[in-house]
Amino acid sequence: MNVRVYKDDKAIGSAAAALFAACVTEKPNCVFGLATGSSPIPTYRKMAELYRDGAVDYAGVTTYNLDEYVGLDHDHDQSYYYFMQENLFRHINVKEENIHVLSGIAPDPEKECRDYEKAIETAGGIDLQILGIGRNGHIAFNEPADAFAPATHVVELTESTIDANKRFFTSVDDVPRRALTTGIGTIMKARAIVLIATGADKAEAVRAMVKGPVTPRCPASILQFHPNTTIMVDEAAASLL
Ligand code: F6R
Repeated sequence: MNVRVYKDDKAIGSAAAALFAACVTEKPNCVFGLATGSSPIPTYRKMAELYRDGAVDYAGVTTYNLDEYVGLDHDHDQSYYYFMQENLFRHINVKEENIHVLSGIAPDPEKECRDYEKAIETAGGIDLQILGIGRNGHIAFNEPADAFAPATHVVELTESTIDANKRFFTSVDDVPRRALTTGIGTIMKARAIVLIATGADKAEAVRAMVKGPVTPRCPASILQFHPNTTIMVDEAAASLL
């Protein structure tokens, strides 16, 4: 694990976008693993800026997102598909047919998960995966549990995650209770990972991930075993390291 401390989220965004740019330059048909939430937004802004400036061409890139809420279709303004369109896809030249986000309204969610896992494999695996981290140490929607989930699956969200995400909904009752998520095994297969955390409320999760024991009670701690993971944090998130 390579931990780097930056002065603010903008500096982190530039550094993470540079990793994505390097990935496409080296392999124009590379596969990105993408996340939603507030942590990757400065990265996505910088990725869009690099496209506008003609510095990076995403035409050959394929993307797979980490997760999606059960019950929300792609047009719902709180779906993760919608988030990705608003915050990244419509600002760059990634091809619509190369974009993959789990369907929250699939009639058979378990089959949707199996097909998604297979599709990532068929695409050759993820070259660069961006992650945020929950205050409870979750990555994607892999919540603290008794075991690490090997593959894409359906989850019940914890109260802590529902509480953290309620800011995006009219009321806490509107926050979906279930989600589809790639597994810890799916994430660990990515060839390179960059995890972003900012702010004091992430400090304890960052400490547990970097310094604590590797345990499914802190799902992100598994990244200690990943051979090519960069943790990008600001000083507040790094304050307990
Ligand atoms: C989002 C995701 C989540 C978030 C995490 C942190 O696709 O998988 O694990 O990365 O909840 O969210 P933010 O960045 O909003 O603090």
